[in-house]
Amino acid sequence: MRILTLTNEQVASLAKMGDSVDELKKAFLVKSEGHVEAPPRARFQMSDVRNILWMPSLVRGRDTMSLKLVTFYPDLGPGAISTRAIVILVDGKNGDVKCIMGGTGLTGIRTGAVSGLSCRYLARKDSRKMAMLGAGGQGFYQISGVASQLGIEEVKIFDIDKGRQKTLIERCEKELHLRASASDAVRDAVSDADVVVTATTARTPILDGADVKPGTHVVAIGAYTPETRELGSDLIARASVYVDEREAAMDEAGDVIIPIKEGRIARDEIKGELADLVSGKVAGRTSDSQVTVFKAVGLAFEDNAVGWMIYDRAVAAGVGAWTEA
Ligand SMILES: NC(=O)c1ccc[n+]([C@@H]2O[C@H](COP(=O)([O-])OP(=O)(O)OC[C@H]3O[C@@H](n4cnc5c(N)ncnc54)[C@H](O)[C@@H]3O)[C@@H](O)[C@H]2O)c1
Repeated sequence: MRILTLTNEQVASLAKMGDSVDELKKAFLVKSEGHVEAPPRARFQMSDVRNILWMPSLVRGRDTMSLKLVTFYPDLGPGAISTRAIVILVDGKNGDVKCIMGGTGLTGIRTGAVSGLSCRYLARKDSRKMAMLGAGGQGFYQISGVASQLGIEEVKIFDIDKGRQKTLIERCEKELHLRASASDAVRDAVSDADVVVTATTARTPILDGADVKPGTHVVAIGAYTPETRELGSDLIARASVYVDEREAAMDEAGDVIIPIKEGRIARDEIKGELADLVSGKVAGRTSDSQVTVFKAVGLAFEDNAVGWMIYDRAVAAGVGAWTEA
């Protein structure tokens, strides 16, 4: 079997953010038609904060299969990358393993693209200012995803790690040509933001209802267990809440599970999932004053969609190294 191997750098060079958003839009439409199979991801809890995840998915019809292995070790020390991954692509038509690619970059790109896609339906079209809470591995991709869909001119960044905050500011200025600045507190970052993204490893709320102005779109991607969350219950109660997928959110998203348990919102008050927005089954933003929340825990078929797009491009461009297995 001939397998193409792609490094994280090659993955990043082949996947443009805007194209990845478009690819995911198509993939969520396919999902809305019922062609995606993805059993709940398996999680091995290695310590209080350390996890290893296995995420399989199959798109019926195309018969593209993907398996992502993610290790999440957020306590490795200053500057260490906490989320690392590889993605394996399998051709379901003949069972061939086609590709093994660095999944760290792919995870960033597809997660940023999902956040960007949510902005198409939920952010105000005139959004210009963004706040980024969390300047770790996901930060740049999140800003890039949102900025690919809106006329973002300015981003305020808050992180408890000032070194990471500074590095992300420099990267946003250089690569995205945005006005970027550091905030000393969450309130300062978000008070005049049109879009706020949370991508931190915080386990308890860092953002709540009184912090954001009317009309803000909040994207929360950081927390992914039922016990942890980045958003407070007041924000969830105040907002129109959407999720990447209802089933996954009910299994893993403390941001919505905890307010539901507290009786602050009912489960059926969640307006819809991203596939519903993309297919037009549910409405997105309906007024300029509405606060919207999009909570994403990350879905295996997102790696499938963007991963196969990258593989096809790599083959066409002759990028990567072939190996026999
Ligand atoms: N939803 C998804 O699809 C998806 C995809 C990838 C990663 N994630 C999750 O997103 C989170 C961030 O991932 P990452 O790769 O950027 O992690 P990372 O460890 O590289 O960065 C996390 C950042 O959060 C900061 N932080 C922690 N607590 C904070 C607080 N209270 N206030 C402000 N900043 C704080 C840290 O200083 C760090 O810079 C993780 O929990 C990860 O599991 C979700």
